Amino acid sequence: MRSEMENDILKILVTEEQIQTRIAELGEELYQEFEGKNPLFLGVLKGCFLFMADLVRACQVKSDVEYIAVSSYENATSSSGRVKIVHDIQQDITDRHVIVVEDILDSGNTLAFLSEYFKTRGAASITIVTLLDKPSRRTKAVNADYVGFVVPDEFVVGYGLDYCQQYRNVPYIGVLKPEVYSR
Ligand code: PRP
Repeated sequence: MRSEMENDILKILVTEEQIQTRIAELGEELYQEFEGKNPLFLGVLKGCFLFMADLVRACQVKSDVEYIAVSSYENATSSSGRVKIVHDIQQDITDRHVIVVEDILDSGNTLAFLSEYFKTRGAASITIVTLLDKPSRRTKAVNADYVGFVVPDEFVVGYGLDYCQQYRNVPYIGVLKPEVYSR
């Protein structure tokens, strides 16, 4: 497929095939844990949009889907630490088994904030699923229950992850060339 973004990618970190294989495994594991529990898949926008779409289809458990949009990076390359709810959940999550779906767990600011928030909104349980985990950058004590891939401290884009809102539609996880973000 033709891509004008390819020139900006240094290397592919996780291929499309590796992503789909891992999602199938995660879907099966989640099915085993949540069968009969009517969980709520709660995606953290915008980064989660592709992962969410593939994960819910890989996990054919009776469930529903909800989204929250937060932002803490404001186009910077590292988290400001202040998490802002840009679009809140539109339903009552009291007594629901919430499966939080994230594209990446980095400093942990976002998920530390959201775990607390969903608790105060009455969730029965909170399970964190992240496609990517960058443990080397963690500043908050947050761990995911399900991790797709552990990645090194490199600037990753694609499959939902952005740089300045772009590259989200790159179908794989790639590392951005440093000259792109130091321009
Ligand atoms: C990204 C990503 C996570 C968060 C992880 O969101 O989608 O939500 O950062 O980083 P943290 O662990 O350091 O908090 P971002 O704020 O860039 O918004 P986006 O999802 O719209 O890209």
